[in-house]
Amino acid sequence: MSTKQQQLEQIAADIVTNNVCPDLAKTATHLVFGEGNPDADIVFIGEAPGRQEDLHGRPFIGAAGKFLDELLEGVGLTREDVYITSILKYRPPNNRDPRSEEKDAFMPYLFAQLDVIAPALIVTLGNHGTSCFVPGVRISTAHGQPQTWQGRTLLPLYHPAAALYNRKLRQTIIDDFAMIPTCIKDKK
Ligand code: URA
Repeated sequence: MSTKQQQLEQIAADIVTNNVCPDLAKTATHLVFGEGNPDADIVFIGEAPGRQEDLHGRPFIGAAGKFLDELLEGVGLTREDVYITSILKYRPPNNRDPRSEEKDAFMPYLFAQLDVIAPALIVTLGNHGTSCFVPGVRISTAHGQPQTWQGRTLLPLYHPAAALYNRKLRQTIIDDFAMIPTCIKDKK
């Protein structure tokens, strides 16, 4: 039986072998599959890699990622405690919005990642991440309201990039983040 890390590496390899979103793959520098603790209780799901992530092949390492690190620290967590990924695993050119067919193409691989990690809590960051799990929902109404998705708790939050330069959203995401310890407390 392979380890969780090996199973995750196999899913990343499958994305390449199966030629998922070949147009995005052509313009991207790296596949940004996700990283963190394969035994994590919490998986954070963003939208798509940006420039820094594409250059380095790691999720959330630009400005939004630094803010995410601060938010994690605020609830006593580090990146080593959690797992971080995005819906799209390749950067869309010029950071354009992910297209619905691109999200659809990557979802089976995201579900496979979640099956391996089996977290107690899924935190979706922003509209794109959230609507893939709860269709039609807007983050402006759904943020900070835990839901159940396939037996797991799902907490939609604003995307840190949206909250970075907006004072009001910044406080909202800090307040919503504070719910995370309660969401996992009874699940461990
Ligand atoms: N935004 C995302 O949604 N994902 C990243 O990896 C970086 C920024």
